[in-house]
Amino acid sequence: FEDFKIMATASATPARVVDNDELSTMMDTSDEWITQRTGIKQRHVAVDETTSSLATSVAQQLLDQSGLTANDIDLIVVATMSPDYLTPSVGAMVQGNIGADNAIAFDVDAACSGFVYGLKVARQMLMAETQKHAIVIGAETLSKLVDWQDRSTAVLFGDGAAGVLVSSQPRTAGTFIAEDLLTLGKLGKHLTAGQVGVRSPFVAQGSTYSPFFKMNGHRVYGFAVKRVPESINHALTKAKLTATDVDCFVLHQANQRIIEKIAETLAVPMTKFPVNIAQYGNTSAASEPILFDELVKKQVIKRGDVVALSGFGGGLTVGTMIIRY
Ligand code: ACO
Repeated sequence: FEDFKIMATASATPARVVDNDELSTMMDTSDEWITQRTGIKQRHVAVDETTSSLATSVAQQLLDQSGLTANDIDLIVVATMSPDYLTPSVGAMVQGNIGADNAIAFDVDAACSGFVYGLKVARQMLMAETQKHAIVIGAETLSKLVDWQDRSTAVLFGDGAAGVLVSSQPRTAGTFIAEDLLTLGKLGKHLTAGQVGVRSPFVAQGSTYSPFFKMNGHRVYGFAVKRVPESINHALTKAKLTATDVDCFVLHQANQRIIEKIAETLAVPMTKFPVNIAQYGNTSAASEPILFDELVKKQVIKRGDVVALSGFGGGLTVGTMIIRY
């Protein structure tokens, strides 16, 4: 096998929805500020759900849609920065929950680029011919990493999961066109969450570490509007395509203004950049597959369309993959 193909898409979001007006009763913010600066109107927040329960729901739906059984699955990759535990991985929990006894499973953490990084890993493993069917999911409960006293980050994030079932294919029937992945570890300090400090009898009392998001919004904004168009252009060059050849750009939903700026830089009309950030906020690794699933279900993305997936965020990382759906 030389390539893979997306056979099914699915998503799952928590039942509880928190809109901007409700947030405004908890902190000094307003629907107007959040809408103008980010495009977000509401977000789903996990109450009874967990990252693994959302991911398991996605995996079960993928099996139902594709007509495969759990035993047919060889590989499960979950992209997440908000797992239930450091071990077991969310991937292993999903494997156990759906009974995919033949699958190996693990997590990939590349924050908001995680879905594209996970797809890359799955593709390479499918091409190695040891695996035939893989489930790749982006799943997050970012609400547990949010400091609900900090209005500068609390308004931005949401919870959810979505993914794809991909199968090995000969090159002629495949999905992959080109990719461009980039990691800028020196800039990682500008966006951190979930710090796990050392803690033992040998460490002096008073060591402090924070589980919460800390973000230099201006630096991350500047990074995204520069690096994402560059990454998309690099991938297009490798594919010998131009931006006008792309039918649909499925970008990480971090901020409406970032997406508008990227569209402007690429000189592509916003009609080719569908957004659903208003409903979900920034769901990190889940944001591109949630949008992708929505567009496939609405038949905005059809078989044969050229789609540019691009994620960007913590690491800092960027991941672009151009596919023919
Ligand atoms: N409500 C009301 N006022 C607020 C809020 C809020 N929720 N948050 C901040 N403010 C205030 C600030 O205190 C500031 O007030 P001041 O002028 O009196 O000091 C004012 O609003 C402007 O704040 P800025 O930070 O300058 O606002 P900006 O226009 O830069 O928007 C934002 C902030 C939305 C965070 C923007 O910088 C951004 O989107 N950055 C990119 C973030 C991102 O994309 N992250 C993606 C990666 S996430 C991941 O990988 C998990």
